[in-house]
Amino acid sequence: MLKELVKRSRPLPSGSKLLIMGGGFSGQHFAALMRSLGNEVLCTRRDNQKPGADLIFNSSTNQILPETAFEGVTHVLSCIPPSPKGEDPVLIHLQNQLKQLKLKWVGYLSTTGVYGDSGGSWVKESDTPKPQQERSKRRLSCEIAWQLSGLPVQIIRLPGIYGPGRSALESIKSGKCKLIDKPGQVFSRIHVDDIAGATLHIIHQASKGWSPQIINVADDKPISNKDVLLYAAKLLAISNPPLQPFKIAAKTMSPMALSFWEENRRVSNELLCQTLGYKLMHPDFKVGLEDCLLQDNFNQN
Ligand SMILES: NC(=O)c1ccc[n+]([C@@H]2O[C@H](COP(=O)([O-])OP(=O)(O)OC[C@H]3O[C@@H](n4cnc5c(N)ncnc54)[C@H](OP(=O)(O)O)[C@@H]3O)[C@@H](O)[C@H]2O)c1
Repeated sequence: MLKELVKRSRPLPSGSKLLIMGGGFSGQHFAALMRSLGNEVLCTRRDNQKPGADLIFNSSTNQILPETAFEGVTHVLSCIPPSPKGEDPVLIHLQNQLKQLKLKWVGYLSTTGVYGDSGGSWVKESDTPKPQQERSKRRLSCEIAWQLSGLPVQIIRLPGIYGPGRSALESIKSGKCKLIDKPGQVFSRIHVDDIAGATLHIIHQASKGWSPQIINVADDKPISNKDVLLYAAKLLAISNPPLQPFKIAAKTMSPMALSFWEENRRVSNELLCQTLGYKLMHPDFKVGLEDCLLQDNFNQN
């Protein structure tokens, strides 16, 4: 829960100003953490009707930030996915402006999809990326563009993101999900609290000169989707969804859904948690889902 995260976090030094490019699910959460800690934050969204839209940036409609948006900015986090052509929307439009700032830190939220399929074994940052899906190849191109940008960037690779309002609890409540049975298949996950907490921890460590260029931010326990849904059903006291073998479920899956099931890997968080010393708030899906339920109940009351 954000309140707990705030208690265990330290703000950025006074005078810091954070610009979040793409204040969606993860971006808004990080913004909320940093504002609660007293730091100045600006968030972009594509549409000024969306909550938390301090500034409008939309690369598809060429709505680009004015020069004034960058005044005093010291830290930048980009949460914007690649364009359909595989270009990075922020770098394409704003790289020159960003390079003129005296930035202390830049972060880019990427995905662990760049590792491709490891047949269920652990993947770590030093492994050569072997993206299979076109979207993961586009993502790797953006990572490379950020690495070559000359900006003080760290790449944060994320597996499946969940959190309050976006978790297996919603899938169970929809009454439409199935327990897909594919023996041996696991997925790694990360709770949005830990994306925010780990990002801040990474910034603090970088300020002490400890700044690996690529860092996985994942929880301790890759697990099957089925187990996560079963636990969500238990928490909600709803009967289990029907079980379906993968071969049958695959026949009606969208190409996008199917592509996730084509890759099997366990994402190592050793660099983040052992080397850089980050302590996960939600080390596994059980703790994380319990938090989502608590937060959902809190929001309803
Ligand atoms: N969802 C997952 O499980 C997952 C897993 C691994 C990595 N990731 C990646 O991690 C990052 C953060 O994930 P998230 O789930 O927090 O993302 P999200 O909620 O979808 O937020 C993405 C943000 O990017 C903005 N955006 C998208 N296209 C844009 C464009 N052409 N021009 C300007 N802004 C644009 C969106 O604008 P609006 O606010 O106006 O919508 C939004 O603020 C994303 O890059 C995502 O692809 C996601």
